[in-house]
Amino acid sequence: MKNIKQRLSDMSERFSSIFASEPQLTIRAPGRVNLIGEHTDYNDGFVFPCAIDREMLIVARASKNKRARVYSLDYDALDEFEIDAIEKTGEPGKEWCNYLRGVLKILAESRHRLTAFDAVISGNVPQGAGLSSSAAYEVAVATLQKELSDLPLDGKQIALLAQRAENEFIGVQCGIMDQFISALGEEDAALLIDCRTLEWKSVPLNLAQHNACIVIVNSGVRRGLVDSEYNKRRAECHEGVSILSTVLDKGGAGLSSLRDVSASDLERNIHNLPDTVARRCRHVVFENERVLKAVDVLKAGDLKTFGLLMNQSHASLRDDYEVSCKELDLLVELAHKQSGVIGARMTGAGFGGCMVALIDRDEIDVFRRNVVQVYEEQSGRTAELYACQAVAGAGLLQESARPVSKSI
Ligand code: GLA
Repeated sequence: MKNIKQRLSDMSERFSSIFASEPQLTIRAPGRVNLIGEHTDYNDGFVFPCAIDREMLIVARASKNKRARVYSLDYDALDEFEIDAIEKTGEPGKEWCNYLRGVLKILAESRHRLTAFDAVISGNVPQGAGLSSSAAYEVAVATLQKELSDLPLDGKQIALLAQRAENEFIGVQCGIMDQFISALGEEDAALLIDCRTLEWKSVPLNLAQHNACIVIVNSGVRRGLVDSEYNKRRAECHEGVSILSTVLDKGGAGLSSLRDVSASDLERNIHNLPDTVARRCRHVVFENERVLKAVDVLKAGDLKTFGLLMNQSHASLRDDYEVSCKELDLLVELAHKQSGVIGARMTGAGFGGCMVALIDRDEIDVFRRNVVQVYEEQSGRTAELYACQAVAGAGLLQESARPVSKSI
């Protein structure tokens, strides 16, 4: 795989040959892996993701006309449009254009000044793998406009605008986690995000100290069913809230989401809920508790309990929330049997995509043999393993794209 320096140099070269000038700035926005706290963000709950060293890159230059011209190196295709008349394209094969158009349109609708530009974009966050390639893309585009137009936007505002583009323009009803961590991630740390208040805390992972590392295994199953099943889960949680609000006395404070339901509230009232709704609520309520506990034990240096909580999270996603699939379950089961694995679970929306595991650094080769290879033999699929670093969120990499800055 090419390193970031080589990728940027390819992009700059392509920029010069297409636009007959040099790019003026480089933007980077990372994908993410969620360590624990799944399907809690749209229930006003807690999540604990980190940004990873797989990212969307943009090299760009402001232009004087009103047009955006964007060349995707990955699709070998150009998108060109007027920045004050942005429309969604329905043309097959041009889906990648809508993330870009969506963010610009939402920025304009929010009364932010747009600057026309030429750009080359390229990403290496695997698509459809649950590692938030689209959030990285959206956050990169918003960050680009922030730099080009000197917009007064902080990371939280960028995340919210990018999420709106995904919700309103792309039409996927995601929560805030992916865009938030892509915009605000920190090196060697995960963020505890309160998705109700959007307050967050950076928690150092200190993995090297434990001789541990994060590995992600792509099951090779492209997330299917995500949109329909995702929306169904949201509706089931909503139904749970409506029913519980008629039976739980919150002292007039009301019940607006599962965040307001404690484990004991739920246990006392679970008989009021239809079975499926009860299991969905149980996942969310206990997953929120697991996130807070996971952060506490991590701070106390107890990685072993952190790993157990990851394992419990997987069981709950598999049995109660029913968003896993047989391939992810197989990967997780193989990982749980392997010595040197501290914890392992599916990550992201589910129905395919990736497993995240915390493992002993010295055991990567054994893990590759006993988990990844055995998985491939048993499932007949091709898996990929990424050993990841937690990195900083989106930003300007350099002001003039060549030569590449020393921070890379
Ligand atoms: C997807 C969504 C997120 C979150 C996760 C599940 O990644 O984009 O907002 O809901 O699924 O935790």
